[in-house]
Amino acid sequence: MSTLLELTPDELLSTTRCVRRRLDLERPVERELIEECLGLAQQAPVASYNENWHFVVVTDPDKRAALGDLWRKFGARYLGERPDPSVELPAGTTRLLDSVWFLMDHIGDVPVHVIPCIEGRTDGKPVPQQASRWGTIVPAAWSFMLAARTRGLGTCWTTFHLGHEEEAAELLGIPYGDVMQAALIPVAYAIGTDFRPARRKPLDEIVHWDGW
Ligand SMILES: Cc1cc2nc3c(=O)[nH]c(=O)nc-3n(C[C@H](O)[C@H](O)[C@H](O)COP(=O)(O)O)c2cc1C
Repeated sequence: MSTLLELTPDELLSTTRCVRRRLDLERPVERELIEECLGLAQQAPVASYNENWHFVVVTDPDKRAALGDLWRKFGARYLGERPDPSVELPAGTTRLLDSVWFLMDHIGDVPVHVIPCIEGRTDGKPVPQQASRWGTIVPAAWSFMLAARTRGLGTCWTTFHLGHEEEAAELLGIPYGDVMQAALIPVAYAIGTDFRPARRKPLDEIVHWDGW
C-alpha cells in the first residue's frame, strides 16, 4: 500500500480539484498506484447486480498522442480561438482558459489516461435507464480521482474526446456498439500537494428543502 497524504475526509472532498498546469509530465506513474485507485473505485455503488463498468488505462505513448489529437480536435471546436493576451478578461476566466489551453497543448504528454466505460449504450433510451447507467460509472470514476488525490496524483474530469468517441473506441478496441465511454481522466503526479476548496454559490441558492 502506498503512502497516503495526511488529509481528513473533509479536506479530501473539498480539495480534489481539476489539475492541469500542475500535472508532472516528466514523472512516470507506477502501475500499482493506478491499480490501488481502481480497486477503491470498484467499491462505488453499482446499479445492477453485476459489475458492468470497465476502465481502459492508456500508457502507450502513441495511443496517448492519438487520443490527445481527438481531445484537441473537439476542444478546439468547443473553445474557439486561443485567447488574445491583449484582451482583458476577468481573472478567473483567464486562469481557467490558460489552464485548459495548457492541457490542449499537453494532453498527449500526460503519462496516464484513464477512460471509465460502462456496458450498454443508452443513446435515445428512457431517462431511468440513462440515469442508472451514468449513475454507476460516475461515482466509481470520482472514487478513482479521490483515491488518486490521496496518493499525490492529480486528475481532471474531461469529456472533449467524446466528441470523437467512436474513433477513440476504434483506437483502443472498445466495442463501441455495446460500451459507452464516460470521460478521459489524465493522471500524473501533482506538482505540490496543496489544493484549495473551489469558490461555490451560497448553499441557500441551490438547496431546496421540502420542494423547489
Ligand atoms: C462533466 C465535466 C466535463 C468536463 N470536461 C472537461 C474537458 O473536456 N476539458 C477540460 O479541460 N476540463 C473539463 N472539465 C473540468 C472543468 O472545466 C473544471 O471542473 C473546471 O475547471 C472547474 O474546476 P473546479 O470544479 O475544480 O473549480 C469537465 C468537468 C466536468 C464536471
